[in-house]
Amino acid sequence: MAARLLTPRALPRNAPQIPDFLAPLTVTPRTTTPRTCLLPRQRRTQSTAANPHAPTPSSVASSNLSPSTNNATVSSTPLSTSKPVHELSQEQRSFLSSALRVNQTGELAAILIYAAQTPQLVRSHPHLRPLMKHMYDQEAGHYKFFNQVLAKHRVRPTAMTPVWTAAASFLGWSTGVLGREAAMACTEAVETEIGTHYNEQVRVLLDWSEKCKARGESLGPELDELVGELRRIRDEELEHLDHAVENDAKEAKPYELLTEGIRAGCRGAIWVSERV
Ligand SMILES: [Fe+2]
Ligand SMILES: [Fe+2]
Repeated sequence: MAARLLTPRALPRNAPQIPDFLAPLTVTPRTTTPRTCLLPRQRRTQSTAANPHAPTPSSVASSNLSPSTNNATVSSTPLSTSKPVHELSQEQRSFLSSALRVNQTGELAAILIYAAQTPQLVRSHPHLRPLMKHMYDQEAGHYKFFNQVLAKHRVRPTAMTPVWTAAASFLGWSTGVLGREAAMACTEAVETEIGTHYNEQVRVLLDWSEKCKARGESLGPELDELVGELRRIRDEELEHLDHAVENDAKEAKPYELLTEGIRAGCRGAIWVSERV
C-alpha cells in the first residue's frame, strides 16, 4: 500500500483538479499586457468547443476563471469576478515553487516515517494501530495533493528525494526501535517544524492577498483555494503533534537531544530542498 502511494502514477485519473496559478507562466510566453486569465490557451479552446455556451477567451479573462473547467476546485471558493487578478512576480513564483517542493518531499518523508514506525509500535502497543493508520492516511492525502500540484504547475521535485527517502525511513525505523515515547517525540519534532513551515506559507500568501486588495486586485480563486488547503493540512499536522504529546512524547529519553536533533534535521532538509 505504501509503495502504491509513493508514486504519482498511482494517482487516480479522476482526481480533483488543483488550482492552476503557475502553469500559464510556463506554457505561454509572457506578454507586455497584464495577464488576467489563468487558464492555458489550449484548455480555454477545448472548453469553448465542447460547450457553445462556454465563455469565450475574452469573457473568461474578464471572469477570472471558468467554473465549467474547474468545478472541483472552485466550488467552495467565491469567485473574485470584479477585480483583476494579480500577476505573480518572479520572486513570488520562486517562493511558491520552493515552498511546494518542500511540501511534497516533506509529506513523502512523513509517510515513510510512519510506515517504518508502525509495525514496531503496534506490535508492542496494539491500541496505537488506529491512530497510526489515521495519521498515515492523512499524510498520504497530503502527499497526493502536493504531487498533483507539482505535476499541474510543473514544479520540479527536489533532487534530494532519494536522500530524504533513506533518511526518513531510517528515522522512522530507529525511533520505532527506541519505543513508543521516542516515536511520538519524533512526530512531535517533525510536526512542529512542518507546522511552522505551513504557517509561514499561509502568512506570506495572506500578506500578498492584503496588498492585492489595497491595489484593487485579487490573488484569484486558485491561490485563495491553495491558502485554504494549506490551512487544512497545517491543522492536520498540528493534530498529529497533539496526538504525539498525548501519547507521552515528552517521556522520551533523552527528550531534548532527540527532539532538538530531529528539528534541526528538518530545518536543514527544508533549507536544502528549497534550493536543490
Ligand atoms: Fe502531512
Ligand atoms: Fe503530519
